[in-house]
Formats: sequence, structure tokens, C-alpha cells
Amino acid sequence: MNILVTGGAGFIGSHTVVSLVAAGFNPIIVDDFSNSEKSVMLGLKEILGKEVPCHVIDCNNYLELRKVFHTEKIEGVIHFAAFKAVGESMKAPLAYYRNNLGSMLNLLDVMLAEGVKNMIFSSSCTVYGEPDELPVTEETPVKPAASVYGNTKRVGEEILRDVANANPLKIISLRYFNPIGAHPSAAIGELPLGVPSNLVPFVTQTAVGLRPSLTVFGDDYPTPDGTCIRDYIHVVDLAEAHVAALKYLMDNPENSLYDVFNIGTGQGNSVLELIKTFEAVSGQALNYTVGTRRDGDVTAVWGDVQKANKQLGWQAKLGLREALEDAWRWQKRL
Ligand code: WQD
Repeated sequence: MNILVTGGAGFIGSHTVVSLVAAGFNPIIVDDFSNSEKSVMLGLKEILGKEVPCHVIDCNNYLELRKVFHTEKIEGVIHFAAFKAVGESMKAPLAYYRNNLGSMLNLLDVMLAEGVKNMIFSSSCTVYGEPDELPVTEETPVKPAASVYGNTKRVGEEILRDVANANPLKIISLRYFNPIGAHPSAAIGELPLGVPSNLVPFVTQTAVGLRPSLTVFGDDYPTPDGTCIRDYIHVVDLAEAHVAALKYLMDNPENSLYDVFNIGTGQGNSVLELIKTFEAVSGQALNYTVGTRRDGDVTAVWGDVQKANKQLGWQAKLGLREALEDAWRWQKRL
């Protein structure tokens, strides 16, 4: 079955392409390479032993997107393509709403025109904001997003819910926690363009000597060691969750459905715990200093993932240590 993977040359998209092939699907990538590199296609060929079909188009371009659906018989879509830099989104809200929501509306139009029913949407735990209760479940109230990026995910979910309820579409939003790590082959991994804003690429770039030191953004939070807590999920586990969700959709007899699943490990780890684990994995001390808090950071968020465990038959198999081992191997290869 042909599965369209928009943003399939990105960090999570490329790992999902590998999992799709392993599950017997035939992924077809659509990517404009605005935030990914062509080298990812070589990495995929190294892992898969074959070229993955790739159309270099912008999902905002209706005609080009429609043409792909005409040339390839698409059975389902996994929609990753979006801008995702939290800080940048605050400086360029119009570009973020136009790109992230515009491309999704375009995709929905094309799917309806072509009679394609199944979609998995890449959402984020950021929709929970600073949760009042932990772990967060799918019923935990969604909060006003702390960033424009987060709001494109929250609004995106609402659009998908309304459009799916009024049309023959079956759509699932996956709310990711913090994806980290890399494929164990080290042929693909996280490729932050420029200075990384996420913790793990900053840690590995510091450890390999690309950065003088890591700044821990605050150790005065109300947590056991004073640093923020997150649910760090191995990107390979996250990729597998997309395959499980796709199979769930394709086996579902409903004419239309919309549902949401938390995809995380169900465990929380602090920044300092991650640093200590990385030092054990790399066998070297990490050079870091404690600085001031970063605007927009929530103190703690981790997921209750029982719904995905039960309904999708999926759960994370890899822990923080494996993810950091794979991230480190990837950084050294880079
Ligand atoms: C994790 C922790 C920082 C860098 C964001 C987006 C989310 C998703 C994942 C896209 C925090 C601390 C970080 C550093 C630090 N993105 N940190 N020093 O903010 O939880 O989530 O990325 O889908 O939507 O919101 O991830 O990796 O940026 O930060 O101390 O140099 O590491 O304060 O506590 P975050 P992160």
C-alpha cells in the first residue's frame, strides 16, 4: 500500500519511512527540503537498500500535490510537513499559520478530491501547556498554546476533528512528547539546521566539541532536582507508533472518525537526569552551566500512554539510555 509521507525527509518522518517499509508498506515522500537535507535520502537508501520515491514539492501547492495523488495510488497519508521552531514561530506567526495550517487544508482538499480516507497527523504534547495534573491523558484539558507553533498544532487538531466529522475521512492526531535519539545504524538522525533549540542535539554537539558548553535553562523549578521534567521518547519507538496508528485506521470499518493519542514513554526525566545518563553513555563529563529559565518552558509534562497501549497495541520499547546511545553514535558519525 502506498503511503504518502509529507515531511518524510525530516527527523521523525525519515524514521517513520523506515518503519513503514519494515511493516510492508510503500512510503512515498513529499518534502520541499526547506528544513531537511537531501543527505537523508542517502541515509534511507543505506538502511533500506533501495531508493524511496520522493517528490520535491511544497504541500501548499494544490496542483503539484494533486498530481502526486494522480501518479501514485495513495491509500493513506502521514502528515509531518510543518515549520516547528518554537522561538521562530513567535517572530513569524503569519508564516507559521500560513504554512502549517495552509498546507494541511490543502492536503485535506486533495484527499477529499481523490477519495483518500486515512490520515495520521503529527501533533504535540505542547497542546497541554503547563498541565494541572500529571501524567497528562488525552482527556487532560488542552490549554491556550504557549507558542504560535503550539497553536498551529492545537488549531490543526480542531480543524481535523471538524473536517473528519463531516466527511468520509478517518484521522488520528498523535501527540508526541519529546522525540530524541536516532536510528541505531546512525545513517539517519536529528539534523538541526543552525543552533539547536532542543536539548539532546545541543548535548551531543557540546560533547563532540562543536559547542563550548550547554546552558541548563534554570534549576530553580519546583521539581526534585530543580530542572524541568519531560517525557523523552526514542524516535524509533515514535516511528513505530505511526505504523500502529495507520494499521488501526485501515482496519477500522467506520466511514469517518477522529481520535487523539498520546505517544510517549509514560516516564518523566529531568534535564540533569538526562545529562547524567548521557555522561554514563558517552563516558565523558559534559561541560554545562546553569543559566536562567527559558521563556515558555513548562515545569513538567509527561504522558499517560495507556490509550495507545490498549487501542493501538503500541508501547515504547526503548529507554532514555538507548536513545542517548543512538543520538551519540549519530553525532559522532556526523
Ligand atoms: C527540553 C528541556 C529546556 C535546551 C519542544 C517543543 C515541542 C517539540 C519538542 C516540536 C527544557 C531544557 C533545552 C538547552 C536546556 N518540538 N533545555 N538547555 O521545549 O520540551 O519541547 O521541542 O515538535 O513542541 O515545545 O524541548 O528539547 O527544547 O527542551 O536546559 O540548551 O531541556 O529548558 O526543560 P521542549 P527542548
